[in-house]
Amino acid sequence: MGKQLEGQIALVTGSSSGIGAGIAIALGEAGATVIVNYHSDKSRKSAEEVLVKIKSAGSGGIVFQCNISIEREVKEMFAEILARFGTIDIVVTNAGIQQDAPFLEMTLEQWNAVISTNLTGQFLCAREAAKEFKRRGVKRERSKAAGKIICMSSVHEVIPWAGHVNYAASKGGVKLLMQSMAQELAPLKIRVNSLAPGAIKTRINKDAWDTPEDEKKLLELIPYERIGEAEDVAKAAVWLASDESDYVTGITLFIDGGMTLYPGFADNG
Ligand code: BGC
Repeated sequence: MGKQLEGQIALVTGSSSGIGAGIAIALGEAGATVIVNYHSDKSRKSAEEVLVKIKSAGSGGIVFQCNISIEREVKEMFAEILARFGTIDIVVTNAGIQQDAPFLEMTLEQWNAVISTNLTGQFLCAREAAKEFKRRGVKRERSKAAGKIICMSSVHEVIPWAGHVNYAASKGGVKLLMQSMAQELAPLKIRVNSLAPGAIKTRINKDAWDTPEDEKKLLELIPYERIGEAEDVAKAAVWLASDESDYVTGITLFIDGGMTLYPGFADNG
């Protein structure tokens, strides 16, 4: 049996590090050609390292710099992908940031930066992807679906988060962006789903697990008593991108060790 994503083209935004890097590598291992998107110049080297891992798994790909919150750059990135690879099959709108501040001190810049990257960026990339999926339609030799969009949400699409209102609002927005896109695009055979990670050990939440005390405190929020790894999310991304999940659209798949199970109620209430 061939690899399950053989012959498919995948874009993973923000994949020079963290969860995005894990997903890009896993899609490559499953046979996809992967566009490893990064934003800032200083991330180029790590994006190239991700591509090396994809190539050593036997798949192709490129690295591509783009600020996914800028419409012109997103359009240029998709034009380049289509010119080089002919089409695209899988888009993981992963890129996301945190800029935390107490609510009373949060600046409009902090608000706008997080909404632009985490919400507008996912809208822009999903829209360009859907245009190409619609144009090409279903090609059974590639996949049963015309295309797969995987949004990056968070447990904070449902868990309120003091000190992070911009981030929680962006992920709450992703929830209904994803569901509304899924409803609208299903007749076109485009599947749209979200991954919602809990605490995954990456740079974005280093402050929460860096010291043994912080780690202990964080584990109190995770019934499964382990902090997640990028691979935990990456495996689910491969499944959502593959025909194994062909009848799945409009879902949020929580990958959180039970963080959304209200662990504070385990011995209280
Ligand atoms: C955030 C992390 C946080 C986790 C659980 C994620 O979406 O980016 O910083 O540790 O949610 O709270």
